Amino acid sequence: MTMVNAFRPENAAGLDEAERALVARRERVLGPAYRLFYEHPVHVVRGEGVWLYGPAGERYLDVYNNVPSVGHCHPAVVEAVSRQSATLVSHTRYLHEAILDTAEALAATMPPELSQVMLTCSGSEANDLAYRIASVHTGGTGVIVTANAYHGVTAAVSAFSPSLGFPDGRPPHVRVVPAPDPTLDAAAAGARFAGDVAAAAVDLAGAGIRPAMLIVDTIFSSDGVIPGPRGVLAPAAEAIRAAGGLFVADEVQPGFGRTGDGLWGFSRHGVVPDLVTLGKPMGNGYPVAGIVFRPEVAERFGRRMRYFNTFGGNPVAAAAARAVLRVIADERLVDNARDVGAHLAARLRELAAGNPRLGAVRAAGLYLGVDVVDPSTGAADPAGAAHIVNALREARILISASGPAGNVLKLRPPLPFARAEADYFADVLGSVLPPA
Ligand SMILES: Cc1ncc(COP(=O)(O)O)c(C=O)c1O
Repeated sequence: MTMVNAFRPENAAGLDEAERALVARRERVLGPAYRLFYEHPVHVVRGEGVWLYGPAGERYLDVYNNVPSVGHCHPAVVEAVSRQSATLVSHTRYLHEAILDTAEALAATMPPELSQVMLTCSGSEANDLAYRIASVHTGGTGVIVTANAYHGVTAAVSAFSPSLGFPDGRPPHVRVVPAPDPTLDAAAAGARFAGDVAAAAVDLAGAGIRPAMLIVDTIFSSDGVIPGPRGVLAPAAEAIRAAGGLFVADEVQPGFGRTGDGLWGFSRHGVVPDLVTLGKPMGNGYPVAGIVFRPEVAERFGRRMRYFNTFGGNPVAAAAARAVLRVIADERLVDNARDVGAHLAARLRELAAGNPRLGAVRAAGLYLGVDVVDPSTGAADPAGAAHIVNALREARILISASGPAGNVLKLRPPLPFARAEADYFADVLGSVLPPA
């Protein structure tokens, strides 16, 4: 499937010699599956806070990357990782405090029902494990996902990631439902979403398939960034449970404070999932991910299967995750996400009010989506979005686009993003918008 904001190799002629050489080396050694962002790819050599730096020292404002969530190369995380790397690197088959400290700290951030933790190396692995656990617990294999969801790369998980496309058709055990409608109020959107989930479960049952889980990215990032309405997920969680499946909240995108009201996206919806999956921002760049779950859902899995993941939960990974949680608390990054996110959303709404190329602005903390639309028809305008993304890149500001049509500007800066940086971003966005 075509990726939004992908570099096209036929444009390589426009690059300088050093960039062309790097692109050629990538093609030679990495093969055809990798993609670069932007018409003019960005070469970065260093990061600090909310800034990335190119080889000549030129700096880019990072309004996109949620992995270095507490800021690029945050000294406290670097220190924790370096100290643990210099002390002990092992695995989870020896007694060691690091994984316990991190698991306890993580569980303490969740509702009390979610009290157990397993660690993996990536969000894909976390979702893969969640699916295995849900299948064993429910005796089912069916998965319900939203129409343009992305949950990861393993064979099992890519099979329920419709945004990758279904090259061989939709797998028989997968059903897709439309993401919640952000234009409705919570009651109407929640009822519609739950109704769609219930109907998908009935359809699975009609095909002789028991549902294992409904899994949702609680900010619906690849469905176009849909943070609300608040409460929209609760009825759907009930619907999947009534059909015998589990409700899995994929927090890989919104988790660790980004939404600005608590650490987890699901908490905005008044629902306690059966299982939560974590990733990206968890180690500020160190590959650490995992799941947090109700003990009862993994009981049968644990009796029938053992779990070992060579790198997952190693002391360095655990130290990285522990440091990230500490920095979020010490630097009050959830409050910052809420305050700066609200300010940025207000600035963007002002811009949208004055330029019909910008449509709805949807935001929760420092996760924002802005629709780019055709000024005369109001229809989704992916070419317009690509133009803006690339114009900002030339102004050394990094964002990308998402959504089923690829027309939603996706803004997701590191959490220490300051009000001044939000203003700078809004000013430059205003200056690159073509007149309506
Ligand atoms: C919602 C969501 N879930 C899971 C994943 C997979 O995580 P990873 O790339 O760490 O395997 C992603 C990655 O983009 C994601 O956006």
